[in-house]
Amino acid sequence: MESNRIILRPWCESDAPTLYKWASDPDVGSRAGWAPHKSVEESLEVIRTVFKDATNTWAIELKETGEAIGAMGYGPSCNCNLSAREGEPLIGYWVAKPYWNRGICTEALQLMIEHIRQTTDIKSLVSGHFIDNPASGRVMMKCGFVPTGETVIDETQYKGKDRPIRVLRLEM
Ligand SMILES: CC(C)(COP(=O)(O)OP(=O)(O)OC[C@H]1O[C@@H](n2cnc3c(N)ncnc32)[C@H](O)[C@@H]1OP(=O)(O)O)[C@@H](O)C(=O)NCCC(=O)NCCS
Repeated sequence: MESNRIILRPWCESDAPTLYKWASDPDVGSRAGWAPHKSVEESLEVIRTVFKDATNTWAIELKETGEAIGAMGYGPSCNCNLSAREGEPLIGYWVAKPYWNRGICTEALQLMIEHIRQTTDIKSLVSGHFIDNPASGRVMMKCGFVPTGETVIDETQYKGKDRPIRVLRLEM
């Protein structure tokens, strides 16, 4: 999948040092509910496990640099209180901090939505963002997602501190 500025392409093991460079930033993972990467080896393991399915998980590659600067994907809803419908996929994404607020994530999400429309019979997508991370909600709204309510997630990494989440859905 390709637009003016970006390509959505499978992750490669050779992306591990770049992934570590961006995902070790505590400002990125904390907004999405995961801990910052602690080593290139950990990033490689994430590529081999979390990012292994090239049918629904992609690196956001910036054409200008040829570098992976984020991730975009969808998959089965996890047990995370998002009130997903039966079989409804959950989406997830992040962009490296130096590239925030340039419309990159919106461009990537639009590409993925178009790809899902063209290649699957998925009827809707769901996602949620922490209330204190409004930029993520803005990305979804710009792509047509509609807020459906709020829930709470008990993140183990936050030692049981509940964090409210706004849930949004896109009818395909
Ligand atoms: C959320 C994230 C993916 C957005 O990526 P991005 O490439 O900067 O997104 P875009 O530039 O396409 O859009 C960001 C929008 O949020 C807006 N925004 C930024 N900070 C904001 C804030 N504090 N309050 C409200 N809106 C905000 C921007 O102005 C922009 O909207 P606009 O185009 O209407 O001006 C990125 O910030 C990120 O990776 N965050 C950490 C991980 C994360 O939160 N993942 C999602 C978990 S649900």
